[in-house]
Amino acid sequence: MKRVKVKELLENGSPGTEVLAKGWVRSKRDSKGVAFIALNDGSIIHNIQIVVDVPSFDEALLRSIGTGACIAVTGTLVESLGKGQRVEIQAKDIILYGGADPETFPLQKKGHTLEFLREIAHLRPRTNTFGAILRLRHAMSFAIHKFFNDKGFVYVHTPIITGSDAEGAGAMFRVTTLDPIKPPLTDDGHVDYKEDFFGKETNLTVSGQLEGELAATALSEVYTFGPTFRAENSNTARHLAEFWMIEPEVAFNELVDNMDLAEEFLKYLIKYALDNCKDDLEFLNNMYDKELLARLHAVLQNPFKRLTYTEGVEILQKSGQKFEYKVDWGTDLQSEHERYLVEKHFMCPVILTDYPREIKAFYMKQSEDGKTVRAMDVLFPGIGEIIGGSQREEDYDKLFKRVTELGMKESDLWWYLDTRKFGTCPHAGFGLGFERLMLFVSGMSNIRDVIPFPRTPKNADF
Ligand code: 4AD
Ligand code: MG
Repeated sequence: MKRVKVKELLENGSPGTEVLAKGWVRSKRDSKGVAFIALNDGSIIHNIQIVVDVPSFDEALLRSIGTGACIAVTGTLVESLGKGQRVEIQAKDIILYGGADPETFPLQKKGHTLEFLREIAHLRPRTNTFGAILRLRHAMSFAIHKFFNDKGFVYVHTPIITGSDAEGAGAMFRVTTLDPIKPPLTDDGHVDYKEDFFGKETNLTVSGQLEGELAATALSEVYTFGPTFRAENSNTARHLAEFWMIEPEVAFNELVDNMDLAEEFLKYLIKYALDNCKDDLEFLNNMYDKELLARLHAVLQNPFKRLTYTEGVEILQKSGQKFEYKVDWGTDLQSEHERYLVEKHFMCPVILTDYPREIKAFYMKQSEDGKTVRAMDVLFPGIGEIIGGSQREEDYDKLFKRVTELGMKESDLWWYLDTRKFGTCPHAGFGLGFERLMLFVSGMSNIRDVIPFPRTPKNADF
């Protein structure tokens, strides 16, 4: 018999049919010669109930079937008399694939803290919470590809190992095959990277943008979606050392088009989650964040508020609010400032534009005023910055001057500068932090709980 997934059984199974279900036992209880097993196979947050007539089964077998065990059940699908489910399985035959010793299985009881679950990241997919998170991550990934595919964007795979710290976005992780104890040395005593695998220093990428720009200036509309790595020592609930980023890059777009695309994209993803992940969102709403669904709907209702960094700074300075960090024109906004604008002042997502050039990356389009660049950050409730992007400087001379001013090496960036030498064009793009999106859509409050295996300072155990 072919196995049917629990989601299919619960939603479409017809009573009276013989079925085969396989999965992991969430709980088992006995009552007057009948055992009730809650079986979950990850296809849906709900369990299917297996009803077992105890006397007709081997006692030792039933004893081995406790929380955490993996079983296959054949039986008849029948209408359920109990509340909460349409159908259940009246068991005829049960095979035990693997038991789980109740003395040592860590998920024996419900209601573990998220902190505890982080310590057993290898088993937490077996919980309702992480089942919901993983299905949601999948749905959001799929929706991202669908959004861009429907618009005719091309998905470009940019390299993970890079030979240039182009972005300057933060400390990088070195990639090397040299012996850490006895590396080859040059005559003047430095590590000789000529001897290394690539014949030069290499690192894990902090962003696929620069390579994305190469593709955009040929295919017009592209995006990347891959892992990025930052070795900053930011031990916060919003930073990971390894996170996933979606980076569209569009030829002929200016800053306004870039903002329009970002807003449409975020709204599309949130609507997709509401339309397609109802059960999981309801679970997360009830368990962790009673305002989650209302907040997701609210973001869809209104246009994002757009204003310049300068206007934002004025609002913050006039707010009378006590901030931990002072707000001065020219300094980067802290997440307390971003969240004040979003949560207290405008009460909706905000797009801040035209930041001081000194606090933004070298590639951003320089404005006439000589002080600002055509940057944009999208700020979200509960999160702060969820997207960072800009229109790009397409003028070779201006870009080259900025590269030199910042002490960057032409020898590292000549290939990027070539796009401005040959058939340059206005273009713009942005990066969405996938886990920041997941924080918003799931209502979880720690970024470690929206990625299967979080990499943070001093933590790469699983
Ligand atoms: O603002 P960032 O550094 O922008 C870039 O990397 C550009 N190259 C994007 C582009 O224009 N193509 O990062 C973009 C987004 C941030 O807004 C944030 O959501 C996320 O990536 N992000 C992080 N997410 C988790 N952990 C970290 N350490 C993050 N750093 C950035
Ligand atoms: Mg940023």
